Amino acid sequence: MRNLFTNPRRLPLVAPSILSADFAHMGEECASVLSPVAGGEAVVDEGAADLLHLDVMDGHFVPNLTMGPDMCRGLRRAFPSAFLDVHLMVTDPWPHAQAFVAAGASHITFHVEAVPEERLGEVAAGIRELGASVGLAINPPTTVDHALDHLEAFDLFLVMSVNPGFSGQAFMPEVLKKTRVLADEVLPTQRIQMDGGISPANIRLVLDAGCDVVVAASAVFGRPAAERPGLIRALRGR
Ligand code: DX5
Ligand code: ZN
Repeated sequence: MRNLFTNPRRLPLVAPSILSADFAHMGEECASVLSPVAGGEAVVDEGAADLLHLDVMDGHFVPNLTMGPDMCRGLRRAFPSAFLDVHLMVTDPWPHAQAFVAAGASHITFHVEAVPEERLGEVAAGIRELGASVGLAINPPTTVDHALDHLEAFDLFLVMSVNPGFSGQAFMPEVLKKTRVLADEVLPTQRIQMDGGISPANIRLVLDAGCDVVVAASAVFGRPAAERPGLIRALRGR
């Protein structure tokens, strides 16, 4: 499987979020954004997703319920070489992280707001020990201070550009300054992801601020399948 974190070239990667896919046709929906030749070391198909983003919400950390490990397990079985990027918007991430890695997740991102600061390093190390890469997500009102204090514990930093809970919300440009701070600090093997309200209309701002993994739910899955390769290419800033 591709390891997105050993490629220091910082190509913008695109992560469609299945939250806006048609849940009654999830296999076809994912196939519509994945390259039939996915799995190589480089971006081989600019119109295809690099990651599938799974938005996991527990009805407690955020006011919505979405999907559990069985969704991840089904996608892993259907798409053995896909990079499954699990975004845990949950109050107690560690047990869920274990369940999702067991279900085939490639990567787990959990929220800085959900874990006491003294446990951030321990949870991150635990996820790496399970064999997945690990990210730290930061909500719009939260500073990057804890991320900077634990920089080497993570492979990715996710700067939320909406308050999490729902797809289809408006982009919050004020979070871009946090991305710029992180971009000056991260190592060549670490990545900065942005999530929420991203579309071809604002992608230039996002990429220019130093973000190199772009999540989009409604901008990809809210459009007909025939348009998705062009939209994914546009989200690379092409
Ligand atoms: C926000 C989720 C996002 C969301 C993005 O709660 O973490 O991944 O699905 O949706 P769009 O791209 O429609 O804003
Ligand atoms: Zn997300």
